[in-house]
Amino acid sequence: MTITSQRFGTTNDGREVVLFTLSNGRGMTVRLMNYGGILTELLVPDKNGIPGDIVLGFDSLEPYLDEHPYFGSIVGRYANRIAKGEFTLDGTVYSLARNNNGNHLHGGLKGFDKVLWSAEPISDTSFVAVKLTYVSKDGEEGYPGTLSVSVEYRLTPANELEISYLAATDKPTVVNLSHHSYFNLAGRGTILDHELTINADRYTVVDENLIPTGELRPVAGTPMDFTKTRTIGTGIVHVPGGYDHNYVLTRASNGLEFAARVYDPSSGRVMEVWTSEPGLQFYTGNFLDGTITGKRGWVYQKHAGLCLETQHFPDSPNQPAFPSVVLRPGETYRHRTVYKFPPTLRSQ
Ligand code: BGC
Repeated sequence: MTITSQRFGTTNDGREVVLFTLSNGRGMTVRLMNYGGILTELLVPDKNGIPGDIVLGFDSLEPYLDEHPYFGSIVGRYANRIAKGEFTLDGTVYSLARNNNGNHLHGGLKGFDKVLWSAEPISDTSFVAVKLTYVSKDGEEGYPGTLSVSVEYRLTPANELEISYLAATDKPTVVNLSHHSYFNLAGRGTILDHELTINADRYTVVDENLIPTGELRPVAGTPMDFTKTRTIGTGIVHVPGGYDHNYVLTRASNGLEFAARVYDPSSGRVMEVWTSEPGLQFYTGNFLDGTITGKRGWVYQKHAGLCLETQHFPDSPNQPAFPSVVLRPGETYRHRTVYKFPPTLRSQ
């Protein structure tokens, strides 16, 4: 296993951005940078053992510095939406940046996807990793408390990419961190032929601005049901706009549990998602519309990639019945998610 680093460019305010390359000697290569904690490449072997890149993104740093739909990013302080960018904690009302139809999305105008993290490569006998750290100031994007965050991307010989998040605060605050890669296991076209399983019996119902109503609705008998494997394209025709929903994962503990599995018949690649989190946002790249050209000249059409964002439920700070996202001084926010790429059957 190896880990190397190179200069990727500079931020608009002249700071150096470093790109790390992690390889496990079993056909998996992970590239990520300290700007936004962005995963820029994820190479995974196909059914013939040929590694191919399965995430959307850009070839160079510049387009990542402009507006883009969170390709490969770490999102926070609060991944997903907070209604009207407002919440009350211990009797105080906090106002956050509103960057999505009057609501707060993915940490605001300058979320964790747009900050430069400190980065430290780690080599161990059983893994290679990059540990990213960032201190978010009290009041950043409207959030209370200085939040010290670390995110570790770890690649193992078992073809697993593990992301571990930790955070601590000096004042009561809310935290919900996630990772926003757009996966396409074929490395081309759309994800409509991918087969998906989600370990969830219910999802959080949302209004027209994708804010939860508070209702947890059973998926049974609807196009939302992925408890049994189905091809994404057969369900999506019944879901106006496409999937952009938070699933309530079926869980037995607080530990790492199976959340979802994706299979692409054309490449034979499989990805499993395991997580400690209660929710999973399944998003089918509905807002991609052919205006972004990504790596290798690939024009990203609608549904070019899918996101499986492990997280707490959207708008939890305003939904007392949802699992709490409050973090208090002395407590540690912990989140672990593992993307597993089990070997697939080689073609005969
Ligand atoms: C959300 C989408 C949003 C997208 C932004 C996803 O996590 O669920 O509603 O448009 O992020 O790229």
